Amino acid sequence: MPGKERGERALPGKGTGSKPRTKSAGGAPEPAEPRETKTSIEEVKVNENLNRRSTLLSCQESSADLKSEQAVRPDRLGEYIGQTRLKSMLTMSINAAKSRGEALDHVLFYGPPGLGKTTLARVIANEMQARIHLTSGPSLERPRDIIGLVHQLEEGDVLFIDEIHRLSRIAEELLYPAIEDFVIDLTTGKGHATRTMRLPLPKFTLVGATTKAGMLSNALRDRFGFVCRLDFYTIEELSGIVARTAAILNVAMETEAVEAIARRARGTPRIANRLVRLVRDFGHYQGAEIIDGATASSALDSYQVDALGLDVTDRRLLEIIIDNYDGGPVGLETLAATIGEDSDTLEDVWEPFLIQRGFIQRTPRGRMATAFAYQHLGRAMSATVSSKILLNSEVKQLDLFAEKLPPQSGQAEV
Ligand SMILES: Nc1ncnc2c1ncn2[C@@H]1O[C@H](COP(=O)(O)OP(=O)(O)OP(=O)(O)O)[C@@H](O)[C@H]1O
Ligand SMILES: [Mg+2]
Repeated sequence: MPGKERGERALPGKGTGSKPRTKSAGGAPEPAEPRETKTSIEEVKVNENLNRRSTLLSCQESSADLKSEQAVRPDRLGEYIGQTRLKSMLTMSINAAKSRGEALDHVLFYGPPGLGKTTLARVIANEMQARIHLTSGPSLERPRDIIGLVHQLEEGDVLFIDEIHRLSRIAEELLYPAIEDFVIDLTTGKGHATRTMRLPLPKFTLVGATTKAGMLSNALRDRFGFVCRLDFYTIEELSGIVARTAAILNVAMETEAVEAIARRARGTPRIANRLVRLVRDFGHYQGAEIIDGATASSALDSYQVDALGLDVTDRRLLEIIIDNYDGGPVGLETLAATIGEDSDTLEDVWEPFLIQRGFIQRTPRGRMATAFAYQHLGRAMSATVSSKILLNSEVKQLDLFAEKLPPQSGQAEV
């Protein structure tokens, strides 16, 4: 598309900013700030409460994450580590679309927070040399939000809708023809004078992201050409991400330190990047020029992140199921109330990792601690609990992210 200004547009509702990328080819080093560092470490040390998890091991985005995001977010598929199958599918499809001179088919990404859905949407736009418009489901409430949005689209643009499961019904219905046939129906007048005009739209790519794939209507899901599930990352993949982030932030780190961080990052790049910053600050505070394994481990220990990436609240969650409910099953709402967390956060943010790593099972009757959880916490299992766990291993797990969404006809599923 010659002569077209390429870039990124943030639309209302997702404060992602529309600044051009500032990262240099080698990555701009981020200077450490010793004064700030000292304060934050001391603050956290005295603040031994559960809020710590929301700033440290939460996979939800914090303002500190946003600040360093621009420098460390991969821009191209070649820099994006992990999700191998998904990447090769995207590479193939992007190349095919580019060689035909067409827009890429619509893509839906689903999976727990912090695994790289938004990053992939930007990567797609970069690879397609297209502009990206960023918005989110809740900000597209009224018809005029949608109309204003599609009005800005140009041929080949990427429209990214985060939290797409939160689109209002009206917005969803207005979007259907836009997604399927690249037209939009405008309604004018009232009562008998109502008129509908069908306007053509340029061919664009819708990229949707959600942490709650189960809440998406079938009608909307069916309209995506690709439905892609993001998985938790392996230790090796996270080590790659940690090493890359450390290099961009200009932090010298030994392999043992890289691995120590990767092992405790809950399978999540956002947390891995946060732990790199934390370990960097800790090392800086201690005057270490090169971060070795021992420094990284003591930094992580001081924040009570254990060797498997569980923090105080993870362990407390498991202890509550074990001690208060004899290993479960316990309902989500009851558990959320006991732990003082809202049930959505518990379900979307904390549980997926604990389930995926085999600490919790999600059964039709509620959450149960596994034998592995007892073992990790060093708790003995009574005979009743053992047989309960054994019986439960026969029960089908209700884990959204452990199961793939069933593909629809003509839909590529990764
Ligand atoms: N594969 C990857 N390689 C390197 N870094 C990654 C990768 N995936 C994600 N990241 C990093 O992790 C951070 C979080 O990713 P991103 O914001 O894309 O997650 P998300 O899935 O959109 O989360 P949410 O559901 O909260 O919106 C980004 O800053 C990015 O730098
Ligand atoms: Mg996102």
